[in-house]
Amino acid sequence: MRKPRRLTPEELAPYQWQMPAARPSRERERPVPAEAVADASGSDGGPPPLIDWGALFGNPNPVEVEVGMGKGLFLLTTAAARPGTNFFGIEIVRKYQLYATSRFARRGLTNVRTVCADAKWVFRNFVPAGSVSAVHVYFPDPWWKARHKKRRVFTPGFAADAARVLAPGGRLLIATDVEEYFGVMAGIVRGLPAFRERRTETSTGTVEEAGYETNFERKARQKGTPVWRAEFDRTDEPAG
Ligand SMILES: C[S@@+](CC[C@H](N)C(=O)[O-])C[C@H]1O[C@@H](n2cnc3c(N)ncnc32)[C@H](O)[C@@H]1O
Repeated sequence: MRKPRRLTPEELAPYQWQMPAARPSRERERPVPAEAVADASGSDGGPPPLIDWGALFGNPNPVEVEVGMGKGLFLLTTAAARPGTNFFGIEIVRKYQLYATSRFARRGLTNVRTVCADAKWVFRNFVPAGSVSAVHVYFPDPWWKARHKKRRVFTPGFAADAARVLAPGGRLLIATDVEEYFGVMAGIVRGLPAFRERRTETSTGTVEEAGYETNFERKARQKGTPVWRAEFDRTDEPAG
């Protein structure tokens, strides 16, 4: 089968949000388009402007964020199935951002945007409080070695930021095939009054029996590795 044509930067640009400030990522950034940021709150040398979701998507629809979208399968299927919701994918590796973004562009999706950056940095600096209706974290890198665990995206600080950016009634959804990391993530969230556990499950089905929502979920099911999944509701309690 022939490889699809590589999309041009112009074709991909509408799907990519550029951060306004230098941050820890593996790629250099270009300036953010003016229409995608809130009023010039950063122009006086103050903190960088927060994302204005309405300007970024061109509508006031609810926004869901996926952290570490990888090749973008979850966003591809979910955004196509739910056109009345906006989806923002954060991915630290540029080649995956490009891969996923090309899929969204080829499908002609209008309700997805992406950024190449560290999700912890984006949450901390650019996402307005109470502005998001769901945060999805699926199969985050486990960083197995003890000395690398500090690189994990799901930390107490990240969970606190997730609580801050979620609107009351919003949801935090996590899944992984690494039991230890699931325990760590669930333990962090259970310790925050800002979240109430809605559902937790372990499933061992094959691809045919259980299906899959992401690339890594498919790999886990093909290997027969159990998948741990949990969903939490944002309560009315303060975030921190
Ligand atoms: C194991 S893959 C899972 C990809 C996808 N969620 C899935 O389930 O198929 C983890 C992804 O998270 C990305 N990632 C790791 N740390 C990140 C961070 N701090 N911010 C954003 N993305 C991150 C990785 O580059 C990788 O694409």
